[in-house]
Amino acid sequence: MGAPQSSGKAANDKWSPESWRQKPILQVPDYPDQAALKDVEAKLATFPPLVFAGEARDLKKSLAGIALGDGFLLQGGDCAESFVEHRADNIRDFFRVFLQMAVVLTYAGGQPVTKVGRIAGQFAKPRSSPTEKKDGQELPSYRGDIINGPEFTSEARIPDPARQLEAYRQSAATLNLIRAFATGGYADLERVHQWTLGFVAGSPQGSRYEELASRIEETLTFMRACGITSENTPQLRTTSFYTSHEALLLGYEQALTRRDSTSGDFYATSGHMIWIGDRTRQPDHAHVEFCRGIKNPIGLKCGPSLDADGLLRLIDQLNPNDEAGRLTLICRFGYDKVEQHLPKLIRAVKKAGRTVLWSCDPMHGNTISAVNNYKTRPFDRILKESLSFFEVHRAEGTHAGGIHVEMTGQNVTECTGGATAISEQDLSDRYHTHCDPRLNADQALELAFLVAEQLKKERIADGKLEPQTLIA
Ligand code: PEP
Ligand code: CO
Repeated sequence: MGAPQSSGKAANDKWSPESWRQKPILQVPDYPDQAALKDVEAKLATFPPLVFAGEARDLKKSLAGIALGDGFLLQGGDCAESFVEHRADNIRDFFRVFLQMAVVLTYAGGQPVTKVGRIAGQFAKPRSSPTEKKDGQELPSYRGDIINGPEFTSEARIPDPARQLEAYRQSAATLNLIRAFATGGYADLERVHQWTLGFVAGSPQGSRYEELASRIEETLTFMRACGITSENTPQLRTTSFYTSHEALLLGYEQALTRRDSTSGDFYATSGHMIWIGDRTRQPDHAHVEFCRGIKNPIGLKCGPSLDADGLLRLIDQLNPNDEAGRLTLICRFGYDKVEQHLPKLIRAVKKAGRTVLWSCDPMHGNTISAVNNYKTRPFDRILKESLSFFEVHRAEGTHAGGIHVEMTGQNVTECTGGATAISEQDLSDRYHTHCDPRLNADQALELAFLVAEQLKKERIADGKLEPQTLIA
């Protein structure tokens, strides 16, 4: 006689890196060559991890501090990374703008900032429609460079498993450069003036940043006189930068999931933090199943269709032990829906006594089609959603803990508005995204200044700061 059968419930609860394969799944590519897919996944499983469990734990610790009320999460990068735009200058320019935003938030907002890029793995895209029509022809949708090609040909749109190897290679190379930038001197605060990109230098946001950079420089001069320099204080010379992406392509994620030798726990080693998208957060489906078992910090996109009960059920699944830093709720309702949806979720989470980090994605609920058919996002709606997010948190007495944006260091014209007043007609000038419209450097800085003011307001409301320190 064999061992007694485990009950259905216990069998359901048993997690392994491949237990997601037993669950229903949405947004899966239709690979015509399953044998080739298996080969690629087997190969990836032998490759070195891209990140280490200890780093994911460090990030979780930082996020825990924010979830408990102190600090701010800045998360951002491309909607979809691209193979053809994989160049050192693009990575560098993204990193420069990101550092500038972080400096604005740290200095003007007065909060330690945890930096997490949507980079070095952000390749797979969920789509609203499985097909795309152009000039009477219908083809499978582009699903991100890790799956198929963006060109509108039937050949390019066939899912090709070999692309996963290229995505791994690109992620490794990108991460390598970013690690060098973060720790090798590029992020030294003494270089705060040099991060400004040429095309931003003359703009209103550029001047505003220059002013702030000069104040930081003055402070550094004073500190140098006191004996604190970037040579003897690593905190001034280096920074911590983490990577993140949507864990959509689960075969790839599984292949890069490893058991950590120190803790015995499983970690996704494709990036430090991974998130579940708004289209794949069904509690009984594969994406939630995969993410519940790995120990990395997890993000969960929360859109208008998520109600309070649904959220509490997901929190139970993804963070049953209420570990601070484990779960970041990335809210993306749309500028006109925040006030309707967010307070209910905040109250339910508070009432249930659960610890989460509240972050705001002001991009994905504000995508519209412009007159010329370009997908765009009006910048004033992005600002409005961000502002409402802070206002709701102030009213509820909770900490607005982060912002999640799609942005680039390139001088693109993808979102309308901002100080340089990009119009719908201007969109065609430099519209380069492979997926959703991104903030350019100027718009990203403008948003950072706005958020910094809100952070100060929160600190004043909490009695941590004198009211006169508010920036005019
Ligand atoms: C994204 O972050 O690119 C995305 C697809 O977001 P969401 O799942 O919130 O729609
Ligand atoms: Co996007």
